[in-house]
Amino acid sequence: MPALHILKEAPLPDGTLWAYIRSLRHFIAHPLEHLEERFERHGDIYRTRIGDWLHYYQLGHPDYARHVLQENQKNYVKSDVFLHVKLLLGNGLLTSEGDFWRRQRRLAQPAFYKARIQALYDRMAEECQNRVNAWQQQLNAGQQVLPVYKDMMALTLNIAGHTMLGYDSSELTDTVNRNFSYAHEFVNRRIQRPVNFPAHLPLPSHRRFWKSVRVLDDIVQEIIAHKRRHPGGADLLSLLMETVDEQDGSSMTDTQLRDEVLTFYIAGHETSANVLAWALYLLATHPEVQTALAQELSTLPEGIPPVAELMALPLLGAVINETMRLYPPAWVIPRKALKDDQVGNYKIHRDANVVISVYHLHRHLQFWDNPADFDPYRWMDGRTENLHKFAYIPFGAGPRICIGQHFALQEIRLVLALLLRRFCIAYQGPAIAPKPLVTLRPDSELPLTIRLRT
Ligand code: HEM
Repeated sequence: MPALHILKEAPLPDGTLWAYIRSLRHFIAHPLEHLEERFERHGDIYRTRIGDWLHYYQLGHPDYARHVLQENQKNYVKSDVFLHVKLLLGNGLLTSEGDFWRRQRRLAQPAFYKARIQALYDRMAEECQNRVNAWQQQLNAGQQVLPVYKDMMALTLNIAGHTMLGYDSSELTDTVNRNFSYAHEFVNRRIQRPVNFPAHLPLPSHRRFWKSVRVLDDIVQEIIAHKRRHPGGADLLSLLMETVDEQDGSSMTDTQLRDEVLTFYIAGHETSANVLAWALYLLATHPEVQTALAQELSTLPEGIPPVAELMALPLLGAVINETMRLYPPAWVIPRKALKDDQVGNYKIHRDANVVISVYHLHRHLQFWDNPADFDPYRWMDGRTENLHKFAYIPFGAGPRICIGQHFALQEIRLVLALLLRRFCIAYQGPAIAPKPLVTLRPDSELPLTIRLRT
């Protein structure tokens, strides 16, 4: 390894203050185009800088992602971005660090073992079936165009309520989604701005944010209190409440439970809803893939398919992989360097913000042919067999890899299978663009036309 002082500095395309301000404005208005343009012009790493002390690196090569997330992960903590996320989610698994995070992960991990997630299958399926029935009723009433993004958010929230919290949250759906959407956009604005007012300053937008957090908080506290009154159940919250740390005999306090539950409830439903909405959009705009998938789904037995059969369907898996390649909900993974380091031949300054661009990795020309195309068959015909392990990381990688990935994949497969077995979907309208907030959402509602599959 060369000495750090002879390493190259990463390209600095916006070196002067004015260039930086112009660039920041462009980034805020068009984040994805901005990043792709910079990567195309400067290669797989570039940086911006405020004065001499604040460095931001954008990394777009799988080797660099491997270095930061795995090989030298001890040098990288969650970046300051997570201080803003903490305003909403508290000190849960997603935002915590060090020994506290290690303990929480150890306590929570068993609740996410594959067998535990499979035990939630019937409950998940019941909620999916309710949505299928609701679509059927809307269709019978002559309503053919449905707000599919809203429906997917409601469905995954209901699934999260039942399976994670053991609670029927269907009446709370609108309240949760409205308050979460406001809080999410507020957090996102803070993340994008280089400087923010302290969050507790009583400005109108701050007051509105704290009100939303209080509403979400009250709901979660009520759910925890309900569980304490009615203990037991296969849901994740019950498991977390019963779990005792083998090392010191302690269990989670109400505050820890609140932070974890809100994290699972919020982080766990919104990411899956985004994948479902994008998958339905891609299938609606690629009818030949939709027909092939319907054919595959027709091989499943009637009723709720056995989980093993569902999880083994190759095209269904390929469609989901390809959807998360094109529209990864976690489109960036931000970190902060504790000490000076190097990635490739480039120097990383201590305290720098280091952002792994998952969106770019998933479209990198060196690793993907025709990366902008929706081509699920690339996952079935051997083209991805020898793929660089870090060229596709929708769930992150290394010790901080998503704890909920089995949950999400089971849920997404189930929803797509039950909906598409019954309905054909189509979309007429302008192309829907991604809106990169903390997660990559569709930038508008997704009105799909549905009809019964014959
Ligand atoms: C398609 C759906 C999902 C995607 C794409 C996704 C993506 C991710 C990614 C990329 C990370 C790593 C973040 C980082 O390294 O900074 C992560 C972490 C996490 N995810 Fe997910 N996630 C999904 C679903 C879920 C679900 C369903 C749950 C809960 C049931 C969940 C809970 C978490 C938690 C708690 C963490 C933090 C883990 C830790 O740091 O120990 N996620 N997720």
